[in-house]
Amino acid sequence: MEIFIDSADLDEIRQGYAWGVVDGVTTNPSLLKKAVEKRVEGGEKVDLKAYISRILEVAQGTPVSLEVTEYTAEGMIAQGKRLHQIFNPVAGNVYIKIPVNPAFRADDDTHFDGIRAIRDLTAAGIPVNTTLIFTPEQAFLAAKAGASFLSPFAGRIDDDLRKKAGISFDKTDYYPAGGLENEDELLEDNGIASGIELVEQCVDVVDRYSFESKVLAASLRNPRQVREAALVGAHI
Ligand code: G3P
Repeated sequence: MEIFIDSADLDEIRQGYAWGVVDGVTTNPSLLKKAVEKRVEGGEKVDLKAYISRILEVAQGTPVSLEVTEYTAEGMIAQGKRLHQIFNPVAGNVYIKIPVNPAFRADDDTHFDGIRAIRDLTAAGIPVNTTLIFTPEQAFLAAKAGASFLSPFAGRIDDDLRKKAGISFDKTDYYPAGGLENEDELLEDNGIASGIELVEQCVDVVDRYSFESKVLAASLRNPRQVREAALVGAHI
């Protein structure tokens, strides 16, 4: 299993690569904001373009995901191409992160815009990391559209199951891979009993149909969950 560090903090990323076990980086706009603000508070003047370029260099040619902030197919495709054009020349390692479904409400007409954006960017030779995957069906469609990475959000599924059942928890609390019973009933979300089960089903879909996409178990909360992601065959 490869390990990608989920951070935009240059010191953390450098540390990970120094350990010799990190194979890539995933960033998102809030991680970048947090990392840059920390430096600005420390008295540094930060140029965002130069800062992102340093992350790409520290990653030594391994994949670095940069996420779009647009939420329509046209917007995500244009922004994805722009980001790739600006940053890929630095070290040739930019992957564009696209939300599988950018819709905010049930009646939005953008539910498939992520799939369209993945398909178009991939066709243009730009590798995509599909983010915010919450069902194996979404993983399946993203794989068919050509995504390089599929990122099921394991921790967020577990958070959601506990929240809906009114169970209080800390962010890093362990959630059983086999699911949790509450008042003699297994908590589940449309047949998914835990974040790890979501990862496992995404891996099964990819393996069964020999897709080239890799499953990146995202939003992991603790080391035991990393172990379980490895045991169900997550590629990253
Ligand atoms: O890259 C995805 C990851 O940052 C999400 O993590 O902890 O906000 O669910 P979390």
